[in-house]
Amino acid sequence: MDEIVINGGEILNGRILISGAKNAALPALAAAIMAPGVTALTNIPDVKDVRVMSELLTQLGAEIDRVTDTFRVNASDITSFEAPYNLVRTMRASVLLLGPLLSRLGKARVSLPGGCAIGNRPIDIHLKAFSKMGAEVELRHGMIDIRADKLTGGILVLDFPTVTGTENIMMAAVKADDVTEIHNAAMEPEIVNLADMLNSMGAEIEGAGTDRIVVHPVKSLNACEHRIIPDRIEAGTFAAAAAITAGCIQICNVIPGHLTSLLSKLDQAGVSIAVEKDRILVQGVPGPKAVDIQTAVYPGYPTDLQAQFMALMCLADGESVITETIFENRFMHVAELIRMGADITIRGRAAIVRGVDNLLGSEVMATDLRASASLVLAGLAAQGRTRVLRVYHLDRGYENLVGKMQSMGADIQRIPGRKP
Ligand code: UD1
Repeated sequence: MDEIVINGGEILNGRILISGAKNAALPALAAAIMAPGVTALTNIPDVKDVRVMSELLTQLGAEIDRVTDTFRVNASDITSFEAPYNLVRTMRASVLLLGPLLSRLGKARVSLPGGCAIGNRPIDIHLKAFSKMGAEVELRHGMIDIRADKLTGGILVLDFPTVTGTENIMMAAVKADDVTEIHNAAMEPEIVNLADMLNSMGAEIEGAGTDRIVVHPVKSLNACEHRIIPDRIEAGTFAAAAAITAGCIQICNVIPGHLTSLLSKLDQAGVSIAVEKDRILVQGVPGPKAVDIQTAVYPGYPTDLQAQFMALMCLADGESVITETIFENRFMHVAELIRMGADITIRGRAAIVRGVDNLLGSEVMATDLRASASLVLAGLAAQGRTRVLRVYHLDRGYENLVGKMQSMGADIQRIPGRKP
């Protein structure tokens, strides 16, 4: 298996172009099968999860033609309604096919995703909503089987504002018999991006980006052209990289408004931030101040940037409390950061991080996508050499992270592993 080797201590400087958002690209690719014809999606990031979703669409009968970051999905013939375990087990977001398949074919069979490193992550809210809309939902032999000759609308009040759940319900509701209202809906920018795409396909969705989304039914949808928004989590990871190396990075092709909660926390930590229309300039300082964070649904502090901020707080002046409220098991990086010399204690859902003067390069193990990013950040700032193992987690969601870091002066390399 490949590993990443970092010789810490270089100060990152330069300009970086942010890729399209993985979490917007995945629902958009799934939505492309909702209408016959060729849907063109641009700004799709080159990451493993996108390749898995493309493979799933191909198995359903779609044809995909990819030129750089543009994917043309021909969904004229959707011949299968089944997403098999061998692909679903590698990517939970495969459940995003449920809504589109129900809308297009009135049936869907998707393998039930297993647990994952960051928690149990059930999809009960998605399934409850489909049942309430009149679908028959069965779990058999590890598969979710859903059938609905027609979906009724109605008022759906979500127990929690789940992101992919809100997306799935929106997609299923587009061609329902009646109006669907989603209350306590997730408000993430990726939801708005998907609603914009569905509206370009002929859907009538209002309220995306608020906690109440109204889907007025339409009879049919058409193929469309749609652009994926920039990846706010990738942008936030680079902002943290500038902060942790006390460097100066111009982060380009972003929507700064999507990063308000992170930027405000970096500002409190003493990092200098300048925001322009589609750019953010981040200038780190040695020994940032300790700042507490608590993850929350958007527009609160994103759980997907919790591990990266923790890496920064390991070198802060003072003690910070980092509370994870979205996932029950998202502190897998803590043990690895401690191996690098961090001083962290976990108390339930909170991690108490006492800043130390130095982190020391070590051999560490990536455990999930964002945890891997935090270990890379810690390695950039650590004294000596850090080896990050199991880097396939990073490949799921970061496009060319190593190349982008190198372009800003990091001493970082990917070492190919021996083929088994
Ligand atoms: C999405 C993002 C992921 C991000 C997460 C939270 C995608 C592809 N992934 O994941 O990067 O970390 O939002 O911002 O967009 N839950 C239930 N029942 C359900 C659904 C969710 O109990 O039916 C719980 C989950 O276990 C978790 C919490 O709700 O504790 C949030 O999950 P959710 O918002 O659904 O995350 P995802 O959509 O899977």
